[in-house]
Amino acid sequence: MKIGVIGGGQLGRMMALAGTPLGMHFSFLDPAADACAQALGEHILGDYDDQEQLRRLADQVDLVTFEFESVPAETVAFLSQFVPVYPSAESLRIARDRWFEKSMFKDLGIPTPAFADIQSQADLDAAVASIGLPAVMKTRTLGYDGKGQKVLRKAEDVVGAFAELGSVPCILEGFVPFTGEVSLVAVRARDGETRFYPLVHNRHDSGVLALSIASTAHPLQALAEDYVGRVLKQLDYVGVLAFEFFEVDGGLKANEIAPRVHNSGHWTIEGAECSQFENHLRAVAGLPLGSTAKVGESAMLNFLGSVPEVSKVVAIEDCHLHHYGKAFKAGRKVGHATLRSKDMASLKARIAEVEALIQG
Ligand SMILES: Nc1ncnc2c1ncn2[C@@H]1O[C@H](COP(=O)(O)OP(=O)(O)O)[C@@H](O)[C@H]1O
Ligand SMILES: [Mg+2]
Repeated sequence: MKIGVIGGGQLGRMMALAGTPLGMHFSFLDPAADACAQALGEHILGDYDDQEQLRRLADQVDLVTFEFESVPAETVAFLSQFVPVYPSAESLRIARDRWFEKSMFKDLGIPTPAFADIQSQADLDAAVASIGLPAVMKTRTLGYDGKGQKVLRKAEDVVGAFAELGSVPCILEGFVPFTGEVSLVAVRARDGETRFYPLVHNRHDSGVLALSIASTAHPLQALAEDYVGRVLKQLDYVGVLAFEFFEVDGGLKANEIAPRVHNSGHWTIEGAECSQFENHLRAVAGLPLGSTAKVGESAMLNFLGSVPEVSKVVAIEDCHLHHYGKAFKAGRKVGHATLRSKDMASLKARIAEVEALIQG
C-alpha cells in the first residue's frame, strides 16, 4: 500500500518507520528541500497549495494523510477529488481553527476555558471586560509550540495586543490556573472502533513540550476518554487524534486537539504494545487496530536545538534515542528519547540522567 503524507518532518518520518514493516511505501509532500522524512520515502517538493504537486502525490498513492493540520482547506478538498483523505476535510477544518475547536467543545458539553472571538482591538477590549485578566490571546490558526499567543496579565498588556499578534483573527481565553497538563492520544478506525492510550502528564518549557510521562490508572482516564470519545464520534474521525487538557479543580478543561500523531505520544514507540504511528496507519489503511496498552513505565524527553552525545544517551539503561536527522537550530525539535522502567522511582532517576545530558 502507498501512503501519501502532507508534511515531511519528524512525524512523517516516524510514520514511515512504523509503516515500512507493514509493507507500506511513503511519499511526502513538503516545501523544504531538507525535509527529514525523505530518507524514508519519496519526497515531492512543493508548497501545500501547489496543485500540480498535489496531483502528482494523489496519482501515486492509495490514500493521503497528514502530519500537520495547518494546510489550506482547498488543499484537502482538491486531494479528496482523487484519493481518500484521512482524517476528513471537516476534521481538519475544525481542528486547525481554535474558534471552531472550542465552539465544538462547548456544543459537546466538554468543559473549556471561557473564550471569545477577536476580530479587532475593540473586540479584544470587550472580551477582556467580560472574561477578565489574566487571559491568553491566541491566533485562531497556525499557532504551535506556544507561537502566536500572548498572556495578558494587566491592562497595559491589552493595549495594542491585536496588532502585536499580526491583526489576524484571534481568540481570547480565560487563564486556567492548572495544577497539571495531560493529554490523551486516541485512535479511531474506519469502522468506528476506538482505542485510547493511557493519559500522559506533560511539562512544557516556554510553551514547548519538554517531558511526557505516561500515567498508570490515572483517576481522570475515564473522564478524558468520555470527552475525547465525544469529539471522535462527532467528527466521524479516522486516525490518531491527540487531546490536550488542563487538570484543574480535580477535573479536566479542554485546551486543544491535534488531528494527527502527537509529540506527547512519541513514548508509545517503545512504551506501548502498538505505537501511535502504527495505529494511525492501521486506522487510515482499514486494518485492525493494535493494543494501546503500556509496557512498564515510560517517559519521553524532547531534544531541542541539539541532540546530546549519542554514546551517552544510549548508555542510559533502557533509553531509546530518536535522532530526526534535522539541522540543529536553537529551539528546534531535533530528536527525543524514550525511557522505560519497571517502576516509577527508577524511571524518575533515568529522566534525571537524560536531563543532565540535555543541560550539558
Ligand atoms: N488558557 C490557558 N491558561 C493557562 N495556560 C495556557 C492557556 N492556554 C495555553 N496555555 C499554556 O500554553 C501552552 C501552549 O498553548 P496551546 O494552546 O496548547 O498552543 P500550542 O498550539 O502552541 O500547543 C499550553 O500547553 C499551556 O501550558
Ligand atoms: Mg498545545
